[in-house]
Amino acid sequence: VSENVDDTLVRVSREADLTDRVVASFATCPDPRLREVMSSLVRHLHGFIRDVRLTQAEWDAAIAFLTRAGHITDERRQEFILLSDVLGASMMTVAVNAPTRSDATEATVFGPFFVEGAPLISNGADIGAGMAGRPCYVHGTVRSATGYPLAGARVDVWAADDEGFYDVQYEGGPLAGRARLYTDDAGCFDYWTVEPAAYPIPHDGPVGDLLSATGRSPMRPAHIHFMVCHPEYRTLITHIFVDGDEWLDKDAVFGVKDSLVVPFSVHEPGRGPRGRVLREPWSSVSLDIALASDSPHV
Ligand SMILES: [Fe+2]
Repeated sequence: VSENVDDTLVRVSREADLTDRVVASFATCPDPRLREVMSSLVRHLHGFIRDVRLTQAEWDAAIAFLTRAGHITDERRQEFILLSDVLGASMMTVAVNAPTRSDATEATVFGPFFVEGAPLISNGADIGAGMAGRPCYVHGTVRSATGYPLAGARVDVWAADDEGFYDVQYEGGPLAGRARLYTDDAGCFDYWTVEPAAYPIPHDGPVGDLLSATGRSPMRPAHIHFMVCHPEYRTLITHIFVDGDEWLDKDAVFGVKDSLVVPFSVHEPGRGPRGRVLREPWSSVSLDIALASDSPHV
């Protein structure tokens, strides 16, 4: 049933008036940034509801979805980060905060698997003991975007095992495949771990249901997470991706950037770095991390 022109005008005006009144309710917000964010959020949210002519049943389903996301979230499971990631909101936030031109290493999503209190290790230590997967030696340097080596940079690393699972996904299991370490006087760090595998993001909850209802894959290409901090530079949150992975162009969370795809070399059994003797093939990867200046204007 099509409505006549007068009815349409009444409807449009009623909807616009509601948006205006809600936006106006923030006029006395003492924090100008909060006022800006909330006003824009309301305009976009109302615009979306009007755009798709959202039904009451659909809005009820959305509330139920978010309620489930809250209920499944705990210290080891973060459904809201997954939701942000699969909607590209995490990467859009990274994008709007990235400098347009920089020689610094590119950032990508934080993801839901960082854990506070990972073991502090010395350079050369093995954090892959007991984990499934091919031994992998990771060594890198941290420098300024202008090439100056940074000693004492804090490097947090975390990655999945060869089965594609993080330590926290094993019920009651120990922390593994994650650590905190610091660069040495030359700006270098290194450690042993296992080579990570591609994995599906946890898809037994509401975000998984959303992916299957929309015909999308939950897979992420194999990667290692890094968070690198130095007092005088901008903190970098990024990954390196394993070159050749079949999921590189189909990442469920849109996190891949070409500059972050690096080759992992495979080596024959024998003596490896740090005196380690390997009875099986092992791999190694080398990376060069450049931190942007803390000031956005430099
Ligand atoms: Fe990950």
